[in-house]
Amino acid sequence: SSTTLVYNQELMHKTILVGDSGVGKTSLLVQFDQGKFISGSFSATVGIGFTNKVVTVDNMKVKLQIWDTAGQERFRSVTHAYYRDAQALLLLYDITRKSSFDNIRAWLTEIYEYAQKDVVIMLLGNKSDMAAERVITHEEGEKLAKEYGVPFMETSAKTGVNVELAFHAIARELKHRN
Ligand code: GTP
Ligand code: MG
Repeated sequence: SSTTLVYNQELMHKTILVGDSGVGKTSLLVQFDQGKFISGSFSATVGIGFTNKVVTVDNMKVKLQIWDTAGQERFRSVTHAYYRDAQALLLLYDITRKSSFDNIRAWLTEIYEYAQKDVVIMLLGNKSDMAAERVITHEEGEKLAKEYGVPFMETSAKTGVNVELAFHAIARELKHRN
């Protein structure tokens, strides 16, 4: 019935993964969706696609429609169009690449320009498994997140550390808003 349709739409929370090319957005989603890490040569995402996932929060189901965007500069204008009806944004940087961390401010400026005012934002420092190559400390990530008043976590799309936790935190936040 049409009532069911509206009900389902209300339950669906559009969540978008954003951040520089190569930070691990696709890998994070594959790890969350399929519990695996695809190693091998890096192939940048072209275009945009989504994966539906149901997360259980406090015995209630939260439906996430997770959009994986292309981080490369030439796809930015396409990505902006998706910000408008997003309810949550997972913003990633790579703890082994300083430029990806420095660009977080620019990403946040874009987000505040194009997204809804009440969008749920979370900052993720990905590739936490690469301890030897780390250039951004956990404290630096935390400090930046605090400055913008958003939650922060370090994740590894490779080992799976904090991946479920990050999506569950987003789902919990969305649930409490409705
Ligand atoms: P675009 O699609 O271009 O925006 O990049 P992306 O953010 O989707 O990056 P992607 O997931 O394709 O990962 C880039 C590279 O980093 C790949 O070679 C991945 O295997 C690797 N990678 C991603 N996440 C991790 C991680 O947590 N740990 C390690 N060691 N490697 C990772
Ligand atoms: Mg990708």
